[in-house]
Amino acid sequence: MQEKASPKLAVSGLKVYYFTDGGTLRAVDGVNFQILGNESLGIVGESACGKSTLGASLMRSLQFPGRIVEGSMVLDNRDLSKMPSKEFDGSVRWKRIAMVFQGAMNVLDPVYTIGSQLREILHEHEFQGDIARKISESLKSVGLDDSVAKRYPHELSGGMKQRVVIAMALLMDPELLIADEPTTALDVLVQSQIIDLLKKLRQEKGISVILITHDLAIVSQIADSIAIMYAGQLVEMGSAQEVYRDPKHPYTQALIAAVPKLRSSEKEIHFVAGRPPSLINPPEGCRFYDRCPHAMDICRKNPPAFERKTGYVHCWLYEKKSET
Ligand SMILES: Nc1ncnc2c1ncn2[C@@H]1O[C@H](COP(=O)(O)OP(=O)(O)OP(=O)(O)O)[C@@H](O)[C@H]1O
Ligand SMILES: [Mg+2]
Repeated sequence: MQEKASPKLAVSGLKVYYFTDGGTLRAVDGVNFQILGNESLGIVGESACGKSTLGASLMRSLQFPGRIVEGSMVLDNRDLSKMPSKEFDGSVRWKRIAMVFQGAMNVLDPVYTIGSQLREILHEHEFQGDIARKISESLKSVGLDDSVAKRYPHELSGGMKQRVVIAMALLMDPELLIADEPTTALDVLVQSQIIDLLKKLRQEKGISVILITHDLAIVSQIADSIAIMYAGQLVEMGSAQEVYRDPKHPYTQALIAAVPKLRSSEKEIHFVAGRPPSLINPPEGCRFYDRCPHAMDICRKNPPAFERKTGYVHCWLYEKKSET
């Protein structure tokens, strides 16, 4: 039997809260997942379920008033959440873990050329090599011609700008790239080109990718594993094939039903009915209770993680099955 590969990054019991004037908002509330070397993980869920907060936590780039309050994020036996800031800034952020933040392509500085923005990042990191060559190589690695270095952001298409921000994130050769909604606001053709680029980066550079998206159809094109996030928690995780073909959690089932089927004659798009709960006062027990077609009395108690073949599902429907 093949030995199980050890995880590159293991996140356990992670809780990240925003301490707002209106109360404590539990954006990430007890999240567990692992990512293996060269694997790609898709994190999927509706708006405001905590996806970007989870990504920013791994980069320790949380916005005020957010704070990691509990849990661990272990990379090579070191808990990143406890690492002194100076050490994290000097040796992990951008160098080992990099992130394409949500909407980053819209905040490229309009008054500087792409080349000078790339150069600035290299200066900030005290890059010692041949800067012009590095810029040209990094543009090529994301499928752009090196003449792009002379252009200003407004001269580029959305797809080109997205490639530029991916190149920026990769400048210091990280081993894990977190891409937060990198295809949102791009047309379908460009979306699939960006996904192909992420696949190529994985194959050629061996980079692990965490892809954050609200779009389950996008994630199914690239992810080895899928984690489904709902109201600050991961409700289901497993290999992409298993989650997609055999979704266990009623929320995952509803998300999959909402994916428009290309070849289907059905014109109607299904949405997941109802709204997620407040993260300031989330209900005790399963947070999907109010929207779940299978809700039972026991669902008012917090569902533990029931193991499935390649991951887990947090849902009382599987209580008996996992005991056998
Ligand atoms: N700086 C902040 N201060 C207070 N609350 C915040 C802050 N940033 C995010 N939140 C709240 O935390 C929750 C999770 O937000 P987050 O941006 O992580 O969700 P998301 O899943 O990335 O959503 P989207 O799909 O819309 O990008 C939301 O309720 C949001 O309002
Ligand atoms: Mg987000």
